[in-house]
Amino acid sequence: MGEGCNYIEKLLAICIIVGFIAISSQASAPCALREYKNGFVCVCNATYCDYLDDPSPENEEEFVIVSSSKAGLRFGTTSGKVNDTSFTTVLDYNKTTARTRKVTINVDREKQYQNITGFGGSFTGSVSYILDKLPQGLQDHIYKSFYAQEGIGFNLMRTSIGGCDFDSKAWAYNEEPENDAALSNFTDLDPSEKKRIEQIKHLKEVTNVENLRIKAAAWSPPPWMKTNNKWTGVSRLKEEYYQTWADYHVRWIELWEKQGLPIWAISTGNEPSNGVIFMFFAKFMSLGWLPESQAIWVSEHLGPTMRNKYKDVIIFGNDDQRFTFAFWFKMMKAVRADSVDYLSGLSVHWYWDEIFKPVFIDIARKEMPDKIMLVSESCIGDKPWQKAAPVLGDWSRGEKFARAFLQDLQHDFNGWIDWNIVLDEQGGPNYVENFVDAPSIANMTTLSEVYKQPMFYVMGHFSKFIPEGSRRVLSERTNVNVDTVAFARPDGSLAVIAFNSGSAGVNVTISDTKRGQINFSVPPKSINTVLYN
Ligand SMILES: *[C@@H]1O[C@H](CO)[C@@H](O)[C@H](O)[C@H]1NC(C)=O
Ligand SMILES: *[C@@H]1O[C@H](CO)[C@@H](O)[C@H](O)[C@H]1NC(C)=O
Ligand SMILES: *[C@@H]1O[C@H](CO)[C@@H](O)[C@H](O)[C@H]1NC(C)=O
Ligand SMILES: *[C@@H]1O[C@H](CO)[C@@H](O)[C@H](O)[C@H]1NC(C)=O
Ligand SMILES: *[C@@H]1O[C@H](CO)[C@@H](O)[C@H](O)[C@H]1NC(C)=O
Ligand SMILES: *[C@@H]1O[C@H](CO)[C@@H](O)[C@H](O)[C@H]1NC(C)=O
Ligand SMILES: *[C@@H]1O[C@H](CO)[C@@H](O)[C@H](O)[C@H]1NC(C)=O
Ligand SMILES: *[C@@H]1O[C@H](CO)[C@@H](O)[C@H](O)[C@H]1NC(C)=O
Repeated sequence: MGEGCNYIEKLLAICIIVGFIAISSQASAPCALREYKNGFVCVCNATYCDYLDDPSPENEEEFVIVSSSKAGLRFGTTSGKVNDTSFTTVLDYNKTTARTRKVTINVDREKQYQNITGFGGSFTGSVSYILDKLPQGLQDHIYKSFYAQEGIGFNLMRTSIGGCDFDSKAWAYNEEPENDAALSNFTDLDPSEKKRIEQIKHLKEVTNVENLRIKAAAWSPPPWMKTNNKWTGVSRLKEEYYQTWADYHVRWIELWEKQGLPIWAISTGNEPSNGVIFMFFAKFMSLGWLPESQAIWVSEHLGPTMRNKYKDVIIFGNDDQRFTFAFWFKMMKAVRADSVDYLSGLSVHWYWDEIFKPVFIDIARKEMPDKIMLVSESCIGDKPWQKAAPVLGDWSRGEKFARAFLQDLQHDFNGWIDWNIVLDEQGGPNYVENFVDAPSIANMTTLSEVYKQPMFYVMGHFSKFIPEGSRRVLSERTNVNVDTVAFARPDGSLAVIAFNSGSAGVNVTISDTKRGQINFSVPPKSINTVLYN
């Protein structure tokens, strides 16, 4: 509260109210930019972090452009007037560049496609461990950066049922006693998961996230349920434990619910192909499934067991790489036609999308138009040929995300869940050293700073401005100078993404069938979200 409150007693009440409003709604604050060898990050500490309040246009004449660029813009906002004859220019961070290219984006809000379920990140054991080490102020800035409206407005979250590779060790419930089909020792949650639940409940409180939807997946059952009796390697679920493994999922949901966190969805299991073709870099806990045997498990065990107890918890199928996606459901259907009926959602991992084209997702979408399609995992640095550790400030990694989000949204996806929201400087902790990059990196040496990566802002250009319930509308570009996707938001306004991966500035004309023309120019290597009514 300001000093003014001390000397005019009559105004005390007003000061308290004003002070309260200031606390409950985070004001916009610019990025504390820092340059590393490979580019810029935004630095947050316990007392400072960058935010952007809802920049919606005031009326039908106004439009707002929010921009981030390789040169250092992070959610820079510029506004202009619809039908203005001059180009509204987004000034790049400390740079001016000639606008030598142009493009028109034709938007027609009457031509509508998929609805948006939302966007999110993952809360693994490693994320929980890192957050727990950071001072409360910094923890809260991470929660708000990702899940508050003034952050990037995530509403989806993925977590693991038991352990995953981003954890301190391989673990599952009821490891002992072995061969215990009744799961007699799975009566309470592990202390590490209870801690995670407390953190997520606190996240809900400080971010005011509406309708947080938690999606969970198991990586592996306790080894005794598996044919190889190990955490990793080629394995199957032993048939005598098909029902036990279904019960295990329901038990886990019950225990989370008891702690006050309802579960929105589960998947049929993380990356089943890791335990089948033994992907050479998958050294972590996994359970192998072929679609044929998984169809039997879903049709006779998981599906009926879940419907019996939790008829509204969504089951997502596949949860694996794009190249498995199209044939997986076909083969499930061939063995048990009803198995795919239990799946209200289809989820896929992003990792091989630069090699495998969208035809794999199009086939599944065409066959099952009514199911929710989500990406449920993505990160960079997983491949043997990539620099595994986080690269601070790397804009090109942000661009990879921009291309990926654009492609899947253009192909009717309903949303995207990224992997760990925060990792340490090595891209861990990870119990098998499967280190990768993340949208935010914590300084675990000093525990005093967190670095928000270009990937964070790129995701935000979608998640912050395309809330749940938005609907994709037609947006066609006249050339390849920018890539685009557009949405009608629940409040009726539009959000148009214009991604410029080129090294020249571009004059963009949005020609909207209902609103008129919006002329603006964007910087080189930038991603821009244009908002108008
Ligand atoms: C936190 O960051 C802000 C903005 O960059 C800076 O002014 C402040 O000195 C930092 N605080 C500490 C303790 O480093
Ligand atoms: C927007 O720019 C285009 C291309 O330069 C131009 O043809 C058009 O007249 C401009 N629109 C308005 C409203 O000035
Ligand atoms: C950008 O410009 C501002 C003032 O215009 C200056 O203070 C700042 O140092 C510049 N930053 C870089 C990275 O050049
Ligand atoms: C972009 O717009 C600016 C300002 O109107 C103009 O000077 C420039 O020639 C335009 N460039 C192209 C390629 O249209
Ligand atoms: C999108 O949501 C609207 C309103 O809830 C609904 O009527 C419509 O069927 C949905 N469309 C799709 C493609 O799911
Ligand atoms: C139950 O599990 C705990 C570990 O979570 C273990 O210490 C204990 O021995 C198990 N009980 C039995 C009867 O195996
Ligand atoms: C973490 O903070 C320490 C102390 O300020 C600094 O030396 C180190 O470079 C920081 N790490 C990163 C990745 O910036
Ligand atoms: C812009 O111009 C078009 C065509 O003249 C018109 O239909 C539209 O209403 C105008 N939009 C605004 C916001 O004035």
